[in-house]
Amino acid sequence: MFRAMAEAMPTAERSYPRTVGLGNGQSVTLREMGAGDAERVLAFARSLPPDDLLFLRTDITDPAVIAQWVTNVASGRTITILAEASGAVVGYASLHKDEVTWQRHLGEMRIQVAPHLRAQGLGRALAGEVFALARDTGLRKVFVQMTEEQRSARALVERLGFTIEALLQDFVVDRSGRTHDVVLMSYDVGGHTQHVD
Ligand SMILES: CC(C)(COP(=O)(O)OP(=O)(O)OC[C@H]1O[C@@H](n2cnc3c(N)ncnc32)[C@H](O)[C@@H]1OP(=O)(O)O)[C@@H](O)C(=O)NCCC(=O)NCCS
Repeated sequence: MFRAMAEAMPTAERSYPRTVGLGNGQSVTLREMGAGDAERVLAFARSLPPDDLLFLRTDITDPAVIAQWVTNVASGRTITILAEASGAVVGYASLHKDEVTWQRHLGEMRIQVAPHLRAQGLGRALAGEVFALARDTGLRKVFVQMTEEQRSARALVERLGFTIEALLQDFVVDRSGRTHDVVLMSYDVGGHTQHVD
């Protein structure tokens, strides 16, 4: 588990843009999402296959949802790292901070990688950015929520050392109206789970 964490969590202060080499020899650029990225992110969302869209927490193919995302980025509530290749978005990772006072030590991670670039290490690289940003902003725990069907997501976070916190039955409803169980998994970025200030 330590090996997984050490590989995924870069030690230097975050500075962007940065280049990441993928398993297929291709390079992608990572940078922070800004106010001018709405159209690019929308184009990426609309390029995703129906299976991916089925399980999105919010409908990011809707421009109004992207506009809210941009607002959250501007306010600092969300930090999003975009992965780009040839000027197009090919993935992203977001760290969402919780505004509930007693959960202010938590950050939620959401990651999406373009289907044609999966299994090349981009998801792991993006997760590493989220861990580093979480640590730099003083968060203690990063958590993910996914349905049991999201097997690649489960595989990714298990490899990174996340552990199961809860199984929530019929907790989400997909775009077709079907309910699914949710697995909530977390990673202790701060290294001290049970202590309070
Ligand atoms: C989950 C997701 C982001 C992973 O991205 P990725 O770029 O393919 O992941 P990586 O290539 O970095 O793989 C990371 C690790 O997970 C493993 N993994 C990824 N997908 C896997 C799969 N389908 N089956 C088994 N293992 C898998 C890899 O082997 C790798 O382990 P290693 O580094 O020890 O070799 C991508 O599949 C995706 O966008 N899925 C749809 C959206 C989603 O479910 N998002 C998660 C919501 S939080």
